[in-house]
Amino acid sequence: MTETPTTSEALRDRIAAELIAARERTTLLTSAVDEPDLIRQHSPLMSPLVWDLAHVANQEELWLLREVGGRDPMHPEIDPLYDAFEHPRAQRPSLPLLAPGEARAYGHEVRGRVLDLLEKARFGDTRLTTGGFGFGMVAQHEVQHDETMLATHQLRAGAPALTAPPPGPAPADAATLPAEVLVPGGPFTMGTSTEPWALDNERPAHQVHVPAFYLDSVPVTNAAYAEFIADGGYDDPRWWSADGWAHRQRAELFAPLFWRRDGGQWLRTSFGVTAPVVADEPVMHVCWYEADAYARWAGRRLPTEAEWEKAARFHPASSESRRYPWGNADPTPEVANLGQRHLRPAPAGSYPAGAAPCGARQLIGDVWEWTSSDFAPYPGFEAWPYKEYSLVFFGPEYKVLRGGSFGVSPVACRGTFRNWDYPIRRQIFAGFRTARSAPERPAELA
Ligand code: AVJ
Ligand code: FE
Repeated sequence: MTETPTTSEALRDRIAAELIAARERTTLLTSAVDEPDLIRQHSPLMSPLVWDLAHVANQEELWLLREVGGRDPMHPEIDPLYDAFEHPRAQRPSLPLLAPGEARAYGHEVRGRVLDLLEKARFGDTRLTTGGFGFGMVAQHEVQHDETMLATHQLRAGAPALTAPPPGPAPADAATLPAEVLVPGGPFTMGTSTEPWALDNERPAHQVHVPAFYLDSVPVTNAAYAEFIADGGYDDPRWWSADGWAHRQRAELFAPLFWRRDGGQWLRTSFGVTAPVVADEPVMHVCWYEADAYARWAGRRLPTEAEWEKAARFHPASSESRRYPWGNADPTPEVANLGQRHLRPAPAGSYPAGAAPCGARQLIGDVWEWTSSDFAPYPGFEAWPYKEYSLVFFGPEYKVLRGGSFGVSPVACRGTFRNWDYPIRRQIFAGFRTARSAPERPAELA
């Protein structure tokens, strides 16, 4: 949720709208393929789509019908099947999962009861209902799985299942943008204590000192990344971290995932359609190690998570941290590429109306952006409402991604939102931009 509804009727309407929108997307993604395709595992990295379908329903039942509504479990025997921690993704196809029709019926039944519960819910009786948090968490959970299911679609072999919508418009002024923008040094409030649907890892708000730095005004493009490849970037250990180089060799990386060389050009397969790589689109499907190597090759580095958030949220005129680069208003199609509207990132420099005060564009939407930071709790972090959302993932084995991709819905996207993954992962809709520290100036010159 973005703008806070002021009455409980408005909050009820907002919740219902978010739940319904999430389900529309889930339904589209799971009705675009036939039953065998729903049950099949398209990659060991992903669950069968039918698992996501019932998992979303099971979490909704757990948090809303049982925890908020006090109801008994509907099918206690299936709970372990849909507990992400009991069975890793690779094992899920061999479980006695609900069949597609059963999974749909279960989801439909849960949703009907949830909408009844919502009619009577009082927001504030318990911590879970305050500000509608539990409902917001469930809506965000479903759209996060919608993005995961979209990644499964991208990994799926065979004829295209999703009809490609038109790409977003490129702005006329993209060529005139500066390569980098300056983000001023000084204190900045990171995270939030007031955003009603912020998840536990975004909390609490806390002050950090971020020295002045320069950030790419747009995400690194396919054309720029192809220069790194052409310059032998994948064959030169100077650009790679030790772990990155070892991984580059072991996994035989040579280009982003889904890229293929064809004579003199690069082709990319996107949702079953193979076409020449589009030069000015943000590069996508690179792992953290590749992003880190590119940045070093470019004489730069990845931004830290705090730098990224300051670039996206800090408003120098008020010294305040805002919800989004453009201010506090909800995302619209004019400011960001979100919600699986275009099924691809927009060309670099798009969405001038969504620019941050520092001038950077596309910080929200298009591609998730790798940061240099490990996924760690903020000072004062408290696991809520379950430690398996964030707590169990904190540590140096996960890197933070920021900003959200074209595949995520606005309800799970804001300046404080934190995503994370292993540094080897490439199937997610992730790219990056680079940064450099601003030279320190003596105080009398500042
Ligand atoms: C925040 C995207 C890393 O998919 O593992 C879904 C979101 N958590 N169900 C993930 C999530 C539980 C999570 N990420
Ligand atoms: Fe989940």
